[in-house]
Amino acid sequence: MQLPIHLAAWQRLSQLAAEPQPHLRDLLDQDPSRAERLRLNAVGITLDASRQRLTPAIEQALVDLAEQSDVAGQRDAMFRGDPINATENRAVLHVALRGGQAPGPWGAAISADVGRELERMGDFAEAVRAGSVTGHTDEAITDVVNLGIGGSNLGPHMACDALEDLAHPRVRVHHVSNADAWALWRVLKALDARRTLFIVSSKTFTTQETLTNAASAQRWLIDQGCPPDRVSDHLAAITATPAESARLGYRPDRTFLFWDWVGGRYSLWSSLGLPLAIAVGAQAFRELLAGGHAMDEHFRHTPLSDNLPVRLALHGIWNRNFLGMPSQLLVSYASRLARFTPFVQQMDMESNGKHTHTDGTPATVDTGPIVWGGLGMDGQHAYFQLIHQGRHKVPVEFIGVLDEDTPLPLAGTHHRLVNLNMRAQAEAMARGRSPDDTRAMLNRGAPGDGADETMTAHRSFEGNVPTQLLWLDRLDPRHLGALIALYEHKVFVQAAIWRINAFDQWGVELGKSMAKALEQRH
Ligand code: F6P
Repeated sequence: MQLPIHLAAWQRLSQLAAEPQPHLRDLLDQDPSRAERLRLNAVGITLDASRQRLTPAIEQALVDLAEQSDVAGQRDAMFRGDPINATENRAVLHVALRGGQAPGPWGAAISADVGRELERMGDFAEAVRAGSVTGHTDEAITDVVNLGIGGSNLGPHMACDALEDLAHPRVRVHHVSNADAWALWRVLKALDARRTLFIVSSKTFTTQETLTNAASAQRWLIDQGCPPDRVSDHLAAITATPAESARLGYRPDRTFLFWDWVGGRYSLWSSLGLPLAIAVGAQAFRELLAGGHAMDEHFRHTPLSDNLPVRLALHGIWNRNFLGMPSQLLVSYASRLARFTPFVQQMDMESNGKHTHTDGTPATVDTGPIVWGGLGMDGQHAYFQLIHQGRHKVPVEFIGVLDEDTPLPLAGTHHRLVNLNMRAQAEAMARGRSPDDTRAMLNRGAPGDGADETMTAHRSFEGNVPTQLLWLDRLDPRHLGALIALYEHKVFVQAAIWRINAFDQWGVELGKSMAKALEQRH
């Protein structure tokens, strides 16, 4: 394994970063081919990277870095089912969950297992939606509460919000992750126990937050009149450890499986997507899978230079490792994507927040960035001040939706305002406003308001903040699936270049073991 710092492309990028670079406003004004060269479209998603601090020489060196890092070889090893999660000796095959019937590089046996569980999960989702799943009083379920945390919450919750326009008119889906009692009570206080189904989502079925919520929910059912021997009628389990869920009394016919080669933060595509399938229907869930699969095919078969996940990964590496920017601001301009940043936070930071290379030696490069953000329009009134005039330099990734379908008479007006702001923010961050332009602006103000140097300084903008825009043609299951897979593969490519394992998470265990030790002492 060659460490990244020993690659010729890495050393070339270090040289390029050390040279004075043109300001983004000059790159935008003096490079007529820029907009076209740095625009890329795949699976209904368009990237506009023209405001990244890139020159043709840097772009070429970045693609060389991907080539020299054997990104394609590492990618093919993942799709083949090699045990690339070496510290847990596991394959990484969330891509198989969305591979459809045609057996992929992972083989027909896995495709058959996946198809069978997808069928079971989809049938149960449709049964709930049809009102044929009933509780202890034989009344149809109207409320489904997903109890899960981390990857057992973030993906389903994000997707249910993003596809809220497809939500079932009668069956409501709720999500509880936190072990704080209020998190559960604020949901249960409005529900009818006779018509409530709890889905306990946990890959390991040992997560204390989820098991605490599950025990509390079962006690609530009983206190609300459910006979103890009928509690299991109000439960479903989603897990990779069915022996544990069976031991805890969950009915096998209400237990939906996935496998240890699916990482929690990559598990939305599996039976863990049951809450989403109940919310939007099995067909829409399959469209999400199809969108993810289409992005997989793009990732597998497109040359690295035109490969959307690869380009996103390379731009992030240029900003992180060569421009020395430790964080990544990720903002969405569609409010249905409010939970997309928290979802990506786990995917990126739990995958790439690592301090050793795959061979166990200390990391010789900076690894995963601090991913933060949320909704961009709110950010404009909250933390964008720091982005525009703060001392930190923070790269910004914007996600927007081109097609507006909200059934409001003035939806077009909203949409125009939102997308215009997204474009304007990226432009302002890139260009800034020089002291000369600021002084001229102030001098054009009211008489006597002439520019003094103090106000000119306060109201100037350095600019040169690297940003990129990702535009979804529309926000529907297929495009959401493609977007999620895009970010999964971006994280994969960065890990492949940094030579770290993106698929274990040993860093979460110390806190858990300390909590257990404290529990025993108190
Ligand atoms: O945060 C650690 C972690 O293991 C995540 O990777 C996982 O998504 C979450 O906890 C929940 O784990 P489980 O699905 O096993 O309850």
